[in-house]
Amino acid sequence: MAFSGLMSVQSLKLGLLPIVSYFIYVYLLKPALNFVHIVIHYHGFPCYPKNFLLGHLKLLWTNFPLPYNVERMKRKFYEVTNKMAAHDQDQSLTVGWISLHPIIIPVVPDAVEVIMNKKNLKKQFFYKFMGLGNGLIPSEPALWKVRRKLIEPFFSTKQMKGFAKHINQEVESFTKQLYGETGKPVDLEDQIHSSTLNIILKSSLSIPLDDSIEDKKSLTELVNKVELNGVKRCLNPLYYIDWIAKFTNFGRYYFETLDSVEKILKKMLIRRKQLISSTSHESENQDFVLLLEGKVDERGFFDELITMIGAGHETTSVGLRWILFNLGHHPDVQERLYQEIVQFFPDDTPVDDMDKINQCNYLDQCIKESLRLNPPVHALSRDLTEDIMVKDKRLLKGSIVVVSISIIHRNPNVYPEPDKYDPDRWTPENASKIPKAAYIPFGYGPRSCIGYRYAILELKIYTIQIIRKFSLRSTRKHGSIPVMSAVTLKPCLPLEIIVTPRNNN
Ligand code: HEM
Repeated sequence: MAFSGLMSVQSLKLGLLPIVSYFIYVYLLKPALNFVHIVIHYHGFPCYPKNFLLGHLKLLWTNFPLPYNVERMKRKFYEVTNKMAAHDQDQSLTVGWISLHPIIIPVVPDAVEVIMNKKNLKKQFFYKFMGLGNGLIPSEPALWKVRRKLIEPFFSTKQMKGFAKHINQEVESFTKQLYGETGKPVDLEDQIHSSTLNIILKSSLSIPLDDSIEDKKSLTELVNKVELNGVKRCLNPLYYIDWIAKFTNFGRYYFETLDSVEKILKKMLIRRKQLISSTSHESENQDFVLLLEGKVDERGFFDELITMIGAGHETTSVGLRWILFNLGHHPDVQERLYQEIVQFFPDDTPVDDMDKINQCNYLDQCIKESLRLNPPVHALSRDLTEDIMVKDKRLLKGSIVVVSISIIHRNPNVYPEPDKYDPDRWTPENASKIPKAAYIPFGYGPRSCIGYRYAILELKIYTIQIIRKFSLRSTRKHGSIPVMSAVTLKPCLPLEIIVTPRNNN
């Protein structure tokens, strides 16, 4: 008996050995070997001078090894990636080293095109920290494919025509408020943020523009917190794993903030139901709830709704602030734009006719140029799921790629005097010479922005309404505004403008 018991322990041990070895190989040895392979492979690729062990980390973490300052790092990220790209401007790409970890940074449009056009690229793990669950932006390729198809009709031409109406309605009341802001330098950050949030809540949840004011105020504050929390989480590995993060004060705060967002949205959904059941409420558009109802489970619905609301207003808000700031520096551009606008939209004519909006060519050029110079989203990141050749260089499966939109948008070989705001770069003749992947404010490839037509429409309606009523003058020098990398590229100083009613001139 004892002998056979011993045998069974022995055979159990023998049986377990291959299983344990398998797990050691799959979860420890293979990743370690892959990592070593990747590090060796990228050794010798073009890169900005680096430290042997720390790589470029010290450029970001300037007081290493003392605890790093999150705010300083957010500012440094933009500065450092630009420095690296400028150093290797004649190459297709450069490599940033976070200690021993290589990050591939394409420097020229051709490299962006080859990489970003690939199907099934995976988003980097820190997209998950943006508070969007498994929504369209962070989702894995298989889920993304199904959901993208489901959501695309939300942005159809018919829908856009309906959206134009309530966008215009909101922008009209926003513009009226500007009369209270005249004659002094103002950064309209809060006003614009609330206004763009109001618009996306009307489009996605059919919440009327003048309804649920207190909830909208709380939501604006929460959205700001979610963005800041997301960046803080990315910058501290202690917060990477959910259950470990929850042991920390920050982790608890992070998840509580997300819960609060969901609570407010649930409240708004109840309000929507009340409004729909009352006979007076009629929606001219199919809202997001109607689109997804019965097609995704409850978790999926919330993830997509939060994604749509989050992605659909903060980006436009930052973009508009820069547009106004850029126009405020160029009275000549403003005058030309004003003349075009009043030709199509004189006096108080509503700005909701898509055909007429699309005929404002100079408006299009002014907005395009602002999104080039100051892209609201400044970086995209991907994990390669296969080897890719960029010219003569092989990028390995498993590598991390970061595309800095700002670097691509300021390539002097494509954009002479890249720091200059010049809408004439976008005349049809000039624009035809700009490679497609050299202009990527809305990303590039299959995962580019699903809401870009909506965003452009919104930016155009704001610009038309504001410029036909006010002239703008910016009080700070453009180049003196430092920026920091949050989810959007935010100015660190107020983008102050002085708004003057035109009928006072
Ligand atoms: C000026 C405004 C906007 C800018 C600059 C912008 C920029 C971008 C960029 C760069 C991406 C690609 C992200 C990546 O590749 O990782 C993206 C994706 C996305 N954007 Fe926008 N966006 C804007 C407005 C909007 C609006 C108004 C909406 C919705 C109403 C929206 C919804 C989305 C969604 C859902 C995705 C994910 C698409 C996918 O992966 O299929 N965006 N956006």
